[in-house]
Amino acid sequence: MNARERLNGIKEKLAAPVIVAPMFLVSGPEMVIAAVRSGLIGAFPAPNARKISDFEDWLKQISAVANEPVSGEIKGDWAVNLVVHRTYPRLDEELALLEKYQPPIVITALGSPEKVIERVHAYGGVVIADVNSVEYAKKSAALGVDGLALVSAGAGGHTGHVTGFTFIPAVREFFDGIIIAAGGICNGQGVRAAEVLGADLVYMGTHFIATEESLASYPYKQMVVDAGADDVVLTDSFSGAPAYYLRDSITKVGLDPDNLEPGNGMNLGGPENEVKAWKDIWSAGPTAQVVHEIYTVGSLAEKITAEYNAAIEL
Ligand SMILES: Cc1cc2nc3c(=O)[nH]c(=O)nc-3n(C[C@H](O)[C@H](O)[C@H](O)COP(=O)(O)O)c2cc1C
Repeated sequence: MNARERLNGIKEKLAAPVIVAPMFLVSGPEMVIAAVRSGLIGAFPAPNARKISDFEDWLKQISAVANEPVSGEIKGDWAVNLVVHRTYPRLDEELALLEKYQPPIVITALGSPEKVIERVHAYGGVVIADVNSVEYAKKSAALGVDGLALVSAGAGGHTGHVTGFTFIPAVREFFDGIIIAAGGICNGQGVRAAEVLGADLVYMGTHFIATEESLASYPYKQMVVDAGADDVVLTDSFSGAPAYYLRDSITKVGLDPDNLEPGNGMNLGGPENEVKAWKDIWSAGPTAQVVHEIYTVGSLAEKITAEYNAAIEL
């Protein structure tokens, strides 16, 4: 079975073609399991598990739920997001555990996907590389990945600069693999629009910060709910790469969001390095302006699925 067939097998059982996006310090096993149970794809970044033993524990819990037989037609699934930057110290240990627990989708970020492709393919997994430009999309496609996650303008976390309206068709010109669209997709209509443009799946991140099951603190979730259009700030000041942060969280640590120091190159020495920025200065994309309450993952999934199904009928 090739990757496209494996993906189609997963996709036809989903309630909607949505991946609850992997988010640093926000996605944990509860959120992933709730996504799986709601018929979506749950995902988490490996560095969220502080110790490698926690990582194994999370993989065990999630795979147990994802492998449970389901009675109806709907079945969610799961993905793991790996940091493949050369300075990331835990990749080999994480890969060995992925071989044991076999997440069907592995998404690489912050480096070349080359070193994981063979090992994930060997157990039948699909490899997707996270990219934020057509240039990186071409490089990853040439390495033989099965799919590309196109991080477009408006994405929460480290963002992209090309609008999805252009990025998706530009990549479809040379790539017939799996495309995940990411960036400012805030409802089920947006999910359908991304499919119409040529995507197979979408990432929804920011909206899911404000769910009961996310690891975000209550004040963080509430700040997402309260945020209006001017309450997110795009800056490379904290990690060296442009990312969106909640304005009030910057003020709270005593900095002036309108006078931030420019970033000083990407700083990726390991998960600890970024913790302060992401722990105390909270990331959320422009989608925050349409988040008006804290949902459960299940109720948000239901809302998105209903919107998506209505959009299909249009
Ligand atoms: C708080 C936060 C943390 C994030 N952390 C990661 C991460 O660790 N790895 C990753 O690949 N993407 C990360 N992202 C990006 C998301 O996976 C996704 O691309 C993005 O949220 C999609 O855009 P949206 O927020 O507009 O839905 C993060 C996003 C947010 C909001």
